[in-house]
Amino acid sequence: MISGEMPPVPKHVAIIMDGNGRWASERGLPRSVGHSKGVEAVRRTVKAAGDAGVDFLTLFAFSSENWSRPQSEVSDLMGLLRRFVRRDLAELHKSNVRIKIIGDRTDLRGDILPLLLEAEETTRNNTGLTLVIAFNYGSRDEIARATIRLAREVEAGRLKADAITPDLIGAHLDTAGIPDPDLIIRTSGEERLSNFLLWQAAYTEFVFLPQYWPDFGAEAFNEALRIFASRDRRFGGLSAKTAAVAG
Ligand code: FPP
Repeated sequence: MISGEMPPVPKHVAIIMDGNGRWASERGLPRSVGHSKGVEAVRRTVKAAGDAGVDFLTLFAFSSENWSRPQSEVSDLMGLLRRFVRRDLAELHKSNVRIKIIGDRTDLRGDILPLLLEAEETTRNNTGLTLVIAFNYGSRDEIARATIRLAREVEAGRLKADAITPDLIGAHLDTAGIPDPDLIIRTSGEERLSNFLLWQAAYTEFVFLPQYWPDFGAEAFNEALRIFASRDRRFGGLSAKTAAVAG
């Protein structure tokens, strides 16, 4: 970066919001309190992303593996998501936020799917930050669902197997039309992807922060952006400096 130039802002930031349970248990509180504090961190982060000029913010809200948690915790998380959409949708819409949902929508019971669809529908023409909520999402499941759809096209004779390219696979994922994440942040000191955006993260930068998710906000978000700006992204090629020396 030449001095005086603005540091690069990632177009798409995705976050694995981890540590709600540990935040609560370290305070002798039930895990549900950690999750509700986590929703406050979600609000702060949506604002910070918009303020920073990020175009897409993806939040890993509920994984396809999270159903294996105790029933009471699953229903706490569902309740929080429900309340988030009911209480915050109007405000998000007013702030020009466009909501998109990724994850498996089949088999979602009760009022959750209609609420998620309402959030997408209400905000579909907004032009500000796109907030992508990964709900009932697992990357391997997403890739398997995309593969089934492509295989059906081949079976029906509408697609030649040899015509399947990485771009075509990408266009059949839940994230079709959403650029790959430039930066994935995971909180709570854990350093793994946990079945999140595996395909899309081929050239993503990772930033692992020690804070538990309920303590996350603008300061930590901007710290992650600063770390991102200091990275040399090469996408399999050479850095500008090395390329200049190599002639
Ligand atoms: C990880 O903490 C967090 C989750 C599994 C859920 C994240 C959900 C929210 C922040 C609330 C709902 C989201 C939205 C978008 C309204 P953990 O329980 O795995 O923590 P631990 O690893 O410390 O146990």
